[in-house]
Amino acid sequence: MARSSSSYVCQACGHEALAWSGRCGGCGEWNTLVETPREPAGTGAGSGSRRGSRASKAGRPVPLREVSAPKVARLRTGIDELDRVLGGGLVPGSLILLGGSPGIGKSTLTGMALGNLAAAGETVLYVSGEESAAQVKLRAERLGEAALRVPVLAETSLEAVLATLEAERPAVCVIDSVQTMHAEGMSGAPGSVGQVREAANAIMGTAKRLDCAVILVGHVTKDGAVAGPRVLEHLVDCVLFFEGERERSFRTVRALKNRFGATSEVGVFEMRSGGLVEVLDPSARFVGEASAAPGSVVLASMEGSRPLLVEVQALVAPTEIVPPRRTATGIDRNRLAMVLAVLARHGGPSVAGADVFVNVAGGVRIDEPGADLAVALAVASAHRGEPLADAEGRPLACFGEVGLTGELRPVGHAERRVAEALKFGLGPVLAPGGAEPLRGVAPHGDLRRALRAALGRGKAGSEVSAHAA
Ligand code: TYD
Ligand code: MG
Repeated sequence: MARSSSSYVCQACGHEALAWSGRCGGCGEWNTLVETPREPAGTGAGSGSRRGSRASKAGRPVPLREVSAPKVARLRTGIDELDRVLGGGLVPGSLILLGGSPGIGKSTLTGMALGNLAAAGETVLYVSGEESAAQVKLRAERLGEAALRVPVLAETSLEAVLATLEAERPAVCVIDSVQTMHAEGMSGAPGSVGQVREAANAIMGTAKRLDCAVILVGHVTKDGAVAGPRVLEHLVDCVLFFEGERERSFRTVRALKNRFGATSEVGVFEMRSGGLVEVLDPSARFVGEASAAPGSVVLASMEGSRPLLVEVQALVAPTEIVPPRRTATGIDRNRLAMVLAVLARHGGPSVAGADVFVNVAGGVRIDEPGADLAVALAVASAHRGEPLADAEGRPLACFGEVGLTGELRPVGHAERRVAEALKFGLGPVLAPGGAEPLRGVAPHGDLRRALRAALGRGKAGSEVSAHAA
């Protein structure tokens, strides 16, 4: 039957159907099924050749204790923050997906990593499907001498890339980006699920055989999924996500999945004119920039397994506009609305007649409930025009979730947050009371008491009174 040679693949989730239908049976999306020839995918360079190179007699299961697993030396990219997120460097033969929105610095990061590896004597290859070799060179010139050593191949044909891998046998290869690769035997535009999956499968087969570590650069769809299809995420060994706001200089790399390391690590970078610079001690940066002005507080936050001190700033400005503006940068807008409502109800100021702006300084994005208390304190301080810093000008550090009834709720990793704050001389830290008392913490059970304690810091004992109202 003619039908058996092609199937219908959902462009959103990769679900495969035998017949076309308007709605995908896998994810329920409409009009996402695209006819895809089946033959090339099965017999391509991917699974087929790998199977062919092994003897195909019956296997003998081995107890794990007896499995020999030689310790493989990791390939260091020379970018410490990236190596840490990878779990100590690149594992030879592994497949890594690096996702991120356009312009975030994926090509810059991979270019720098390959440059360092090349300078350390490793054979590398940079395959560019998006830019010409001349454009890649222009970037490398900004990155310095090491980046210019990297051999580049401007190519979008999958077959040509595979052949080059076979011929060059690099230790590390970057495919920038996997969405631009297309297999000749397949219909469907580059970037479609079928093409991306075929490309990734074929590259994986070849790379594992040649023991070449491959970094696949992938674009991110508007809802944040790498390459649209989730098919790639389970195929690869490691999924890295590069994020940050394009207009700001701070960027973070985090692992969403890592077969060779923890997924909680985060690397922080700054985009400068000479490429990405590692920010080895982000807390020092952020605290150093923190001001002792009203409306500023230091949040002891967590970025993966790493504590991070960031400055949260608020501005409260009276306005005639109805409804007044609520602008949040670096925190969730709904979370801000909730904190403002709890403040008005439980001992804080009412800002009904004022615009409120809240900003996490430095372009960092905080995505955890532990930021609530910092937002509440910053807004209250801005509203009263009274600094949270103490008499010596040391900023106040805090963390904690604010509940709807005005209670302060504990958040994870309290010890590490406190330790980080104390390291920078910010103590005692205002926080919810935990199960056990912690050194360096001023515990408070509810928002009302925390506000009273915080805003009484400068002038001893001053009560919460609405002097600005
Ligand atoms: P790029 O790595 O091309 O982003 P992506 O591959 O993720 O699309 O570069 C991102 C931006 O960084 C680009 O707008 C220019 C800027 N940039 C610098 O500021 N300094 C530099 O040294 C380089 C190479 C780029
Ligand atoms: Mg790029």
